Amino acid sequence: MGSVNDTSLCVGKTPWWKEAVFYQVYPASFKDTNNDGWGDIPGLIAKIDYLHDLGVDCVWLSPMFESPQKDMGYDISDYQAVFSRYGTLSDVDYLISACHTRGMKLILDLVVNHTSDQHPWFQESRSSKTNPKRDWYMWKPARYDANGNRMPPTNWRSYFAGPTWTWDEHTQEYYLHLYDTSQPDLNWENPECRKAIYDEAMRFWLDRGVDGFRIDTVNKYSKRVDFPDAPVTMPGETDQPAPEMWCNGPRIHEFIREMNEQVLAPYNAVSVGELSNTPLPEQVLPYVSAAAKELDMVFEFSTIRLGTGGPFHGKYLYREFPLSELKQYVATWQQWLEGTDGWHTVFCENHDNGRAVSRFGDDSTAEAWEASAKTIALWQATLTGTIFLYQGQEIGMVNMPKDWPIEAEYKDVESLNFYKEAKASGDVERIRKTEEGLRILARDHSRIPMQWDASPNSGFTKEYSGLFVHGAFRPVLQEDETLFVYVKDDQGFEEGDVQAEKRRKALVVMNFSGKPANLQEHNLDVAATPGCKHGEERLLVTTLRKKDMSSMEAGTLRPWESRVYLSF
Ligand code: NOJ
Repeated sequence: MGSVNDTSLCVGKTPWWKEAVFYQVYPASFKDTNNDGWGDIPGLIAKIDYLHDLGVDCVWLSPMFESPQKDMGYDISDYQAVFSRYGTLSDVDYLISACHTRGMKLILDLVVNHTSDQHPWFQESRSSKTNPKRDWYMWKPARYDANGNRMPPTNWRSYFAGPTWTWDEHTQEYYLHLYDTSQPDLNWENPECRKAIYDEAMRFWLDRGVDGFRIDTVNKYSKRVDFPDAPVTMPGETDQPAPEMWCNGPRIHEFIREMNEQVLAPYNAVSVGELSNTPLPEQVLPYVSAAAKELDMVFEFSTIRLGTGGPFHGKYLYREFPLSELKQYVATWQQWLEGTDGWHTVFCENHDNGRAVSRFGDDSTAEAWEASAKTIALWQATLTGTIFLYQGQEIGMVNMPKDWPIEAEYKDVESLNFYKEAKASGDVERIRKTEEGLRILARDHSRIPMQWDASPNSGFTKEYSGLFVHGAFRPVLQEDETLFVYVKDDQGFEEGDVQAEKRRKALVVMNFSGKPANLQEHNLDVAATPGCKHGEERLLVTTLRKKDMSSMEAGTLRPWESRVYLSF
């Protein structure tokens, strides 16, 4: 795709972010310019032309704020300072202008469900029960069991294993943290706290020129403040999964609307929210319906979480899944928007998951790696919605080698806590399965250094945005466990838009397996497929190398080969 080459808000009736390519940079591992082993903002600046040439329209920079780095910057101790290994405020100012002068945009990560326990707000809050900021976090007295043993206020399990509550000796109360004990949750019920978030974490950066935010854990600000116990769904465990107690809570839409009205909208800032534990389209629409005035886009996780055993206890117990399950999720999330005023994101990687080629493709041989990485790229580029790439995805980066020892090489707090928990159980099978799961799914895989010696891959051009970014999605051969096939049809694209083009259809045929796939056997000789009339279709893209194209067979796809046919 080409670049947005002006700073206007819309192309015709279409907001710029719908047809933009977003690219996520994880600062620690992107580009190190001072050889301290940490990537840095000068490194990102040095690579801006690379991103521009790649066709990136908007960079999403993961947290680069001051932080003790217990959760790699998602534990912020100062919203207005830059972590010194990453650079300085002036570096960020320079980055903003480096993006803008190239017609690109920059969004930051907004992490305001929680802060670090080192943030001055929490330091004040924990200093005494009467401190004015006491209520900026969620404090609760202990409960006691029949034997007088102290117990947390609820039985909720945290994301990183263990309870969501930590006891504070000094003030003799527990504080709530959905993540690590060092990441106390802010109390969004408190209006002064919300105001401080808007001023210090948002307006400060918008005033410096950033174009919006990827919003961390956006649906967890409103908790059930009657604090009930979660039902016991994991018998024998002390801490129970409790997303219904703190996710999509009673005041969540009120809070997000307020954030939009007071901060995002006045700055025309783009917003993309991280929306976990929300698997139903009817739950998602209220967040992204244009009329609701909440968020522009969200990340929904059904597809990217495939293979995990759920978000809590079983997360790293790897579960194999058939291609038809992947296709079902894709079809659901491609089709739910039709006839609504919402919008969708397309992604299969980020900093919280293993690499796509190692999960949805095949990294076992060089040939399979190349073919499956290209097929995954083609799959993503032909889906409806705004595409988000993660650093290194463009060169098909893979997971860490399977024989790297977990204790020595895995650094992520979540990986290590789950591994520790499995080992503490003494259950040999659980330990083995957790090791297997971590080798495929761990967040560490996406956090290793970007490999800079590969050549760029520029992808699709904007000529086909009506078809691929906006087009209606029609699944074909949905039950097949080898072929992934769909038609994209630009009938859904609004008439009168400056981007509107002659009605077209595209047939996307992908072999998601390591064996040849016969298209004719399925009556899939292109001509037989809806929207592709014989003699009128033409091959638009193939994942084959040029030298192999002369021996391409119309009726057979090689292992992991994919094609897009265009029909007029
Ligand atoms: C979601 C982020 O993507 C993840 O990396 C982080 O650990 C949690 N939110 C907590 O901020």
